[in-house]
Amino acid sequence: MPWNFQDIHSQAQTEAQAINNPQILESFRLKYLGKKGVVAAVFASLGTAPAQEKAAIGKGANDLRALVEGLIAAKSSELNSIKTQQERTDISLPGTSESLGHTHILTQTLQEIISVFEQMGFVTIETPEIETEFHNFTGLNIPVDHPSRDAFDTFYLDAADPSAKGRRLLLRSHTSPGQVRIMKAHKPPMAVIVPGRVYRPDAVDASHSFMFHQIEGLLVDEKVQFSELKGLLTEFCKRFFGPKVIMRFRPHFFPFTEPSAEVDINAEVLGIQRKKWLEILGCGMVNPKVFEAVGYPKGKYKGFAFGMGVERMAMLKYGINDIRLFYENDLRFLKQF
Ligand code: PHE
Repeated sequence: MPWNFQDIHSQAQTEAQAINNPQILESFRLKYLGKKGVVAAVFASLGTAPAQEKAAIGKGANDLRALVEGLIAAKSSELNSIKTQQERTDISLPGTSESLGHTHILTQTLQEIISVFEQMGFVTIETPEIETEFHNFTGLNIPVDHPSRDAFDTFYLDAADPSAKGRRLLLRSHTSPGQVRIMKAHKPPMAVIVPGRVYRPDAVDASHSFMFHQIEGLLVDEKVQFSELKGLLTEFCKRFFGPKVIMRFRPHFFPFTEPSAEVDINAEVLGIQRKKWLEILGCGMVNPKVFEAVGYPKGKYKGFAFGMGVERMAMLKYGINDIRLFYENDLRFLKQF
């Protein structure tokens, strides 16, 4: 008998015990079950074996194959379970936490202003930043030769206004065109605020930016008085700056309101040393010419409007002295709020 099957079996068992990774398991498989492996060699030897040994050799080969297959199956499931154990999440490890950011100070200020007006019954509507001359100027009674229509004071786009021949679209220079759009689309009574970005080709310095934010307010009904505008804005300033705030209404001119005023607040009381009075907003009773431009019946409605600069409000409330800080994204600044 050319084969000592007992030795081969115990040899295979010893080898199998030592296998500790899939590569070694594979070479073990090839060694016994491969084309040039031990089992194949045993079968090959049948051809030259004496007739009386053939049956024993054949049985030996089959037994060896069964044994090796069993060893491989056992080892492979053992290796798999080691792998899953190693990969299992270790829940005792301290986690890595994501640090959440927070809203920008301008967004916070915007939301705070909006929430005060919403508590007083105003509804927030956003209108486009790209506007027509009609909404930004003409509908607001700003005459054709008014200096603010000049390209030095307004960004014009290289795009024709599809609603007006020979006119170009522009970036709104204030949120007041929102008044015209909303009145054209809705009938009074209404109380709306329009927050958003506005654009002016100003050289950038500590108090100017080519883009800033405004919040427009508009209230229209059949009976509306200037005293109500005054009362509303006084209440607003108290809620936004605190009850100690001191404000004054100073006569002013806007083409789209009549009479018009600007509101200043006393900076000393807020603890800011610069000028005593700082302007925060423009306001007035809606000019009847604006009602006419949006197609309201003559004499039927009255209303008031106001527009305030959001950066200005934030600078006063939080003692920020340079408008550029809002846009530079310096975390040392942003993290303070
Ligand atoms: N639109 C004006 C500005 O940008 C502000 C304003 C709004 C004044 C509404 C009166 C009424 O200066």
